[in-house]
Amino acid sequence: MTARSDDAIVTVDALTIAARADGAVLVDDVSLALRRGGVTGIVGESGSGKTLTCRSLLGVLPDAVEIRSGRIVVDGREVTGLGERQWSGIRGTVVSAVFQDPGSYLNPSVTIGRQLVEVLRVKRRYRRRAAHREAALLLGLVRLRDPEAVLRAYPHELSGGMLQRVLLAIAVALEPRVLIADEATTALDVTVQAEILDLLIDLQERIGLTLLVVSHDLAVIAQICDEVVVLKDGRVVEAGPTRQVIHHPRHPYTRLLVAEHERYGLDRFTAEERAHVA
Ligand SMILES: Nc1ncnc2c1ncn2[C@@H]1O[C@H](COP(=O)(O)OP(=O)(O)O)[C@@H](O)[C@H]1O
Ligand SMILES: [Mg+2]
Repeated sequence: MTARSDDAIVTVDALTIAARADGAVLVDDVSLALRRGGVTGIVGESGSGKTLTCRSLLGVLPDAVEIRSGRIVVDGREVTGLGERQWSGIRGTVVSAVFQDPGSYLNPSVTIGRQLVEVLRVKRRYRRRAAHREAALLLGLVRLRDPEAVLRAYPHELSGGMLQRVLLAIAVALEPRVLIADEATTALDVTVQAEILDLLIDLQERIGLTLLVVSHDLAVIAQICDEVVVLKDGRVVEAGPTRQVIHHPRHPYTRLLVAEHERYGLDRFTAEERAHVA
């Protein structure tokens, strides 16, 4: 069962996004709902419209595209058509995100500490000492050992996995309700990927986040998502509880995705759970 709009914190209703230049439809009539406190996945091949859908939830669509029609409601408020000033009160504070390639979001010549402290001072109006304390706490929250050493480090001194933890710390610094992880583990090796997924679930449980996990990799979605939306060529081809979609895919494209993964052991569910769905 997909989330009903009344227990959803984010609702996307018939969203269509097109390229300004030639009118090409890139996201086509997409509807989805993020259940409060839930973990929803979007899966689909590269170019299927995952990132544009995410960006529309953050008010940061590229200039070359536009929302043609549809409605987005975040925490009871319609956000479609809001101006930048109004978005700045939502982005980071209500809906936040991490992406692939965390290093590119940090200034290479400034320490992690100064970058994190800056966010806390500007956006949460902390004084310097309190901001430093909070920054260390945030790094602890994302399970970085020795937060003080990380605060002193420059981005190039940290591994990809550590950088993604830092970006997660920044993403949750303003205590958002919704966190989008768009291909956030894609560039990481499998062990680190599993650690970051585990951390996402930990954050979801500990600070009551609603998670939207986006990946081209069904295995990532299968590991942590309760609900999944399958996108193909900008359209939703299938949606539902993850285990149902994985064990009883209806659309040929979903079947293909599942078949591709079978040999890696997609499955985190026991035989008993599977029987329950069947
Ligand atoms: N700035 C842009 N200008 C024009 N087309 C874009 C832009 N960004 C993305 N697209 C197109 O929109 C489609 C969906 O892209 P995207 O949402 O990034 O896919 P995904 O994240 O699933 O890989 C693709 O065909 C892509 O080429
Ligand atoms: Mg993408």
